[in-house]
Amino acid sequence: MFYVRLLFILVVSYACYSFVVYTKGTAGTITPAAETQQVVSEGKQLYQQYNCTACHQIYGLGGYLGPELTTAYSDKNRGEAYMRAMLQAGGSRMPNFHFTSQQIDALIAYLKYVDTTATPIKD
Ligand code: HEC
Repeated sequence: MFYVRLLFILVVSYACYSFVVYTKGTAGTITPAAETQQVVSEGKQLYQQYNCTACHQIYGLGGYLGPELTTAYSDKNRGEAYMRAMLQAGGSRMPNFHFTSQQIDALIAYLKYVDTTATPIKD
């Protein structure tokens, strides 16, 4: 009887935990505000459409020709102005995609959002 009760408690606990995880997400997940959500998803689409992941990593996944972009936004040596310049003009190996300023805003919004979801290792 003890084991049946224990099993029951475990099953109920697991069901409650699953409900919380699936409806609220795990701790540390940040959902952008509704007004930024639109522009963030535009940026994400551009990121996929132009296959930035061929050269760049986000959360460690992607190509290795370009630098990791997860925390580029909050990186004191890179940051928004540097990223904008790179997206406007390209670099020595980073292609110039001839983005409009609206597309650059969307890509920056996406990379800024990605940055808020990361836990950078501070030096
Ligand atoms: C052909 C490979 C390649 C592709 C594709 C590419 N990049 Fe890059 N990117 C680079 C390289 C390499 C750098 C480093 C600067 C340099 O050497 O030109 C860079 C630099 C950057 C930077 C500046 C940040 C830093 O740490 O230097 C940003 C932001 C960036 N890329 C965003 C993007 C986005 C967004 C896309 C997709 C639209 C993209 N890149 C597509 C290769 C690429």
